Amino acid sequence: MTSTASPAEPTSPHVMSTYGRLPIALSHGQGCEVWDTQGRVYLDALGGIAVNTLGHNHPRLVPALQDQLTRLIHTSNYYHVPLQETLAQMLVERSGMQNVFFCSTGLEANEAAIKLARKFGHDKGIERPEIVVYEKAFHGRSLATLSATANPKVQAGFGPLVEGFIRVPANSLQALEAATANNPNVVAVFLEAIQGEGGINAMHLDYLRAVRALCDARDWLLMIDEVQCGMGRTGKWFAHQWAGITPDVMPLAKGLGSGVPVGAVVAGARAAAVFQPGNHGSTFGGNPLAMRAGVETIRIMEEDGLLENAARVGAYLKAALQEALASELANGSVKEVRGLGLMLGIELAKPCAALVGQALQAGLLISVTADTVVRLVPSLILTQAQADRIVALLVPLIRKLLAE
Ligand SMILES: Cc1ncc(COP(=O)(O)O)c(C=O)c1O
Repeated sequence: MTSTASPAEPTSPHVMSTYGRLPIALSHGQGCEVWDTQGRVYLDALGGIAVNTLGHNHPRLVPALQDQLTRLIHTSNYYHVPLQETLAQMLVERSGMQNVFFCSTGLEANEAAIKLARKFGHDKGIERPEIVVYEKAFHGRSLATLSATANPKVQAGFGPLVEGFIRVPANSLQALEAATANNPNVVAVFLEAIQGEGGINAMHLDYLRAVRALCDARDWLLMIDEVQCGMGRTGKWFAHQWAGITPDVMPLAKGLGSGVPVGAVVAGARAAAVFQPGNHGSTFGGNPLAMRAGVETIRIMEEDGLLENAARVGAYLKAALQEALASELANGSVKEVRGLGLMLGIELAKPCAALVGQALQAGLLISVTADTVVRLVPSLILTQAQADRIVALLVPLIRKLLAE
């Protein structure tokens, strides 16, 4: 692979080619390091795209999952699943919300949230409910969630889109008020506290508080997609907690199971009783293996102080990147180093997808999103020494790309 190769390799003819894949296969990992099948080691600053909360081969998660495998992997939601009750209680206690529906992925959690908002509207007599969504949003790739997503590349070829969404720019209360003025069909505002795929774009804390107040005044649900920014990544359990607010609906997935597929929709008082028996379901949702992964993830995060670690090492990494890229930030070739905790973005003034392959060659796993933003979403166990190594590997590549 040349140093400018883009991350697109054909895969086996038997696997549908929905991904452009980098030319390696990973065989095993330990902590924040992974090895490929040729024995090369990589520092993992991607964490399975914000999924591997506890890194790889965690010494307490793996035995717990092994124990669970010998008990039960899956039953069905025909029966009580005590581990669901345990994980639901943990999420309710940490979010200040009321109850939880379990599924397996982020899009499923968001799909459920959209259904819940529509039913919330129907229960109030609104026949054609509409949901406010955002420019640069990403909520998934099912038909409803890709319709809520802003990226035209995600939508192309899949029309007709699902109707009932109103799109507004981030961080403008005025735009939100104007887009919803005199519209009795609005039922919810749906946003990411920090947009991930859209380029690590934070909603301002004042804006979040103002949207909360508007939702209260208008009897709309505030639905905050914490699939990528939640589960401790920013240094609080959920990114919206920095604003001191509580949403009515909160979809979760990614980091919740440290790599085992777990999705959840957490509901506050106004949303907790909208779904009634028969309204929604998922065969795999809440299965014992997934629930054990969620319970142990949260337990280990707390035992090991991983929220504090995410905040501390994330702030250190951000400052180190800003320092190393100071002259590029001054001359505008790097626009910004932004984000919170271990959810960081480095926005360049030019497209930088080629950095993904170049970093791979240098022994570093990263991603580029929104064309110009290097995204760092490592495991929450990242050490300061590993943060230094990310800077040492990445900054020369950024400088070289900017010089080309
Ligand atoms: C904020 C957000 N919501 C939803 C999703 C979709 O999650 P999944 O890929 O598990 O369906 C993603 C995935 O990147 C995401 O970042």
